[in-house]
Amino acid sequence: MRTLRLDDHERDEVGALVTRVLLEEELWDPVTFADRAARVSQHLPVRMREFLTEVRVSEADIAVVSNLPLSEDLPPTPAGWEMAVKTGAGRAEEVLHMICGAGLAEPFSWSDQQDGRMVHDVCPSPGEERSLTSASSELTLALHTEDVHHPCRGDYVSLFCLRNPDAVGTTYVRVGSIDVPDDVRAVLNEDRFRFFADDSHVNVNLPGDQDSQRMSTVGPIVFGPSQQPYLRIDLDFTDVATPGDDTADAAMRRAFDSLRGSVESVVLSPGDLIFLDNYQVVHGRAPFVPRYDGNDRWLKRVNLIRDVRRLFVETRARSRVLA
Ligand SMILES: [Fe+2]
Repeated sequence: MRTLRLDDHERDEVGALVTRVLLEEELWDPVTFADRAARVSQHLPVRMREFLTEVRVSEADIAVVSNLPLSEDLPPTPAGWEMAVKTGAGRAEEVLHMICGAGLAEPFSWSDQQDGRMVHDVCPSPGEERSLTSASSELTLALHTEDVHHPCRGDYVSLFCLRNPDAVGTTYVRVGSIDVPDDVRAVLNEDRFRFFADDSHVNVNLPGDQDSQRMSTVGPIVFGPSQQPYLRIDLDFTDVATPGDDTADAAMRRAFDSLRGSVESVVLSPGDLIFLDNYQVVHGRAPFVPRYDGNDRWLKRVNLIRDVRRLFVETRARSRVLA
């Protein structure tokens, strides 16, 4: 894990940059701001720019920047992302996240996830305690590749911690932890697996299909360079591509077991921004008891892709919002 702790002077520099952007962006809209975020990120402290560049070039799997500034008057943790939208809670933190994220890669969003917003709120939501989304709390959020179903899934998931009073762990497993025999690995390398859209996407069903077939794509679980492979899996939303393919099913279960046996955890503190390489690690979250008193764990989340043209080709428009 690569880490960079800003000194207090650097932290104040970042804070001043955020204030400047807030003054310029009267109607804060991350989707509009995304096109100029990379340019603004050139004004981040030089150590941070170098760090983010090094993370990208070296393909570091996990990176954390700490001692980033937070608003002194940070509002209470909203009870779910819809409430955050209504109140505009954490706007300065969204600006900061967009600038820092754009120092690494290109921010983008999904039209059917949190209303197409580019900066998501990750906080426990009443009624969602046992859901399979980041609004859950009482259940372990299973290890997953973010947006596993889609060829344009992010290269990075970035999480900016605003509150985490109960030291809830963000869990992760590195692709190198998959410890299986060569013949099993060979199966994992084949296009024998189906990846389904997860429950955070509201339009997960294929249009016009009366059986409400969930959107999915087929591919390998392990792929890319053999020395430093990439990984694609979601323990809740992956199956074999062809029903009855027992060999693929057994290989997938071996991969699940191997991942579950190698879980590591990082506890984010307020002011920490973590970048998880969505091709090299899967991530999840430990369970916790929600408070719903305004002091719950609260993260902002931004998806980042290395090449924005992949989005333009997919959407057939110069749009960072994927349908
Ligand atoms: Fe996630």
